Amino acid sequence: MELIPALQKNRTRLATWRHDLHAHPELAFEERRTADLVASILTLAGIEVHRGLAETGVVGVLKAGTSPRAIGLRADMDALPLHEQNTFPHRSQHEGLMHACGHDGHTVMLLGAAEYLAETRNFDGTIYFVFQPAEETIGGARVMIEQGLLEQFPMEQVFGMHNWPGLPAGQFAVHSGPVMACADQFDIVVRGHGAHAAMPHQGRDPVLAGATLIQALQSVVSRNVDPLDSVVLSITRFQAGEAYNIIPDEVRIGGTLRAFRNDLRDAAESHMERICNGIGAAHGLQISLDYRRGYPPTVNTADEAEICRRIATNLVGESNVRSNLNPSMGAEDFAYFLHERPGCYVWIGNGMDEGGCMLHNPHYDFNDDILALGASYWARLAEHLLEPI
Ligand code: NI
Repeated sequence: MELIPALQKNRTRLATWRHDLHAHPELAFEERRTADLVASILTLAGIEVHRGLAETGVVGVLKAGTSPRAIGLRADMDALPLHEQNTFPHRSQHEGLMHACGHDGHTVMLLGAAEYLAETRNFDGTIYFVFQPAEETIGGARVMIEQGLLEQFPMEQVFGMHNWPGLPAGQFAVHSGPVMACADQFDIVVRGHGAHAAMPHQGRDPVLAGATLIQALQSVVSRNVDPLDSVVLSITRFQAGEAYNIIPDEVRIGGTLRAFRNDLRDAAESHMERICNGIGAAHGLQISLDYRRGYPPTVNTADEAEICRRIATNLVGESNVRSNLNPSMGAEDFAYFLHERPGCYVWIGNGMDEGGCMLHNPHYDFNDDILALGASYWARLAEHLLEPI
């Protein structure tokens, strides 16, 4: 493995930063302590720091040479509302909050690279280090972009990285094209007419219509989507009445839809609409659908994916860079950056052993052994993209 020696030597320090962040997790747009730490490390390294985008966002600006080329490297900083069940010394000190997605590690890998690049300045151009809040559910990336990130820091390409449990430590996965799905949500209200449960003919039963609707919605994917395309429609909420002897007035149904392409989302929504109307008509009641688009699909551009694959290969060898791994139906707000600029979001293996349990699990932990590797990847990627001509 060809890690950058200075970063490899620095790994204990990187782990100390990581443990500190892990012990002090903060939720979306509340990453104040985290942002303070990020800003102070960048400042100490001699990197210009900008704060305030999306409340707690931090952008470090590092220039070398005279080239107008500019790239963005992004890490996410937020934690999850989860009760940590680990017992190691760096477990969460904030009850009910936990870094269960490894954003503590992502932040530290980028900080390690920033510090190294500030010291060596072996590149020609501008690097924007983007530390974004609120990746989980709220979309801090979108907010940063809406507030002018790309105008204020005009990067030509943008790159992201996420740890991936189950992928061995020392490996990367690079996808050309889709890597993560969209995450849309929907709410459905079935409005019937309540009645005594012993006299259902006097009402319009939304429970029966709701149950029929849930089954019918499964045909959206199985009968309307090309079997070679990937779409998931999951119903996760079904809220009806509370009594044993009352048919309620209405039923509420909710769930999520995942897909890798926008045309598939559009088609799924219109099939859902049709089915809701049809089941409503069949049962003589009203069914309304509120379909909301969440994070778009995360789709890497081919040229940038190829560059990332080469950088990873130089670090860990060809056999440790997976380009054939299936994308995930999970979602990621890095998608918003890729909507605006070419770029690539890679997975770095978090390992299979202890701590290798899946993301968002109360036993999860980021693997300290990959901090220097991730930081080396960032540094080599930046040096390659901004190679002096
Ligand atoms: Ni994450």
